[in-house]
Amino acid sequence: MHPIISVSNLSKTYASGFQALKNVDLEIRAGEIFALLGPNGAGKTTLISIICGIVRASEGRVLADGYDIVKDYRAARSKIGLVPQELTTDAFETVWATVSFSRGLFGKPPNPPLVERVLKDLSLWEKKDNKIITLSGGMKRRVLIAKALAHEPQILFLDEPTAGVDVELRQDMWRLVRELRDTGVTIILTTHYIEEAEEMADRIGVINKGEIVLVEEKAELMRKLGRKRLILHLQNPLASVPQSLADHRLELSAHGSELIYTYDTQGERTGITALLADLDRAGIRFKDLETEQSSLEEIFVSLVRERS
Ligand SMILES: Nc1ncnc2c1ncn2[C@@H]1O[C@H](COP(=O)(O)OP(=O)(O)OP(=O)(O)O)[C@@H](O)[C@H]1O
Ligand SMILES: [Mg+2]
Repeated sequence: MHPIISVSNLSKTYASGFQALKNVDLEIRAGEIFALLGPNGAGKTTLISIICGIVRASEGRVLADGYDIVKDYRAARSKIGLVPQELTTDAFETVWATVSFSRGLFGKPPNPPLVERVLKDLSLWEKKDNKIITLSGGMKRRVLIAKALAHEPQILFLDEPTAGVDVELRQDMWRLVRELRDTGVTIILTTHYIEEAEEMADRIGVINKGEIVLVEEKAELMRKLGRKRLILHLQNPLASVPQSLADHRLELSAHGSELIYTYDTQGERTGITALLADLDRAGIRFKDLETEQSSLEEIFVSLVRERS
């Protein structure tokens, strides 16, 4: 299928001489939800800003729905909505004015019923006559989302849409994103939260130090990353893992006072029941237990290691 966004050989070196993107190639499929994961400073915002025409690339080319983002700027831009990472809104405008104005910027005629629906969907209706400056941080973020939605974009970029927002907004966001996808909108979001990518995305891309290190179907990636650790805090430290437990994937840590079991959350069986029964038989008692999922940070480290 013909990609809705096609990024080829894209590089960006900022005026400071810092190279934020290195030969990025990426294709986004029409109608998908694509999550771009990467640590701070990886180049996510830079990539999005180039595609949205806010930052100029040093090299390479981007097509949005077939339009070159430099040569056919207007046509490309009219397809795209952006919810930026940084809160930049006109502080003294009202919510209603700022969201309505956003349509005009993209050459769309006024459409009060649409603006009303968007504001209601984002629980902003009560605040429609408030000046932006009087809103809370989470509400300002909702306004940014409303602005992006007001011109009915075909492609929507959400740069860290749920960083620092409450559970309710996060869930509203997720619902809204799904509804948009169901109407045919292509969605590209960046996030630090693996659960968010897991919940939302069809495909996941990982960017690290300006390079795309992986692009994969979510289901496949989750299978690879779905490792969890069960940590048992023992009553009495062990000098070594007993022979009778050799069949389990166990390690000792914290001077023998913790027994760590690694298992696959996506597997048919975790093996936990058998492990606990064998521990009991071996007379090993524990006073507490916890589970831990590989953090995004660890995932990056392992991904980058794998590839270098
Ligand atoms: N205007 C600029 N001038 C110089 N360097 C910049 C500029 N904007 C960004 N950078 C650098 O480019 C790199 C990538 O930044 P970018 O904002 O794209 O990262 P990010 O992946 O969005 O990070 P975060 O997760 O923190 O939002 C960083 O090292 C950053 O310091
Ligand atoms: Mg960013």
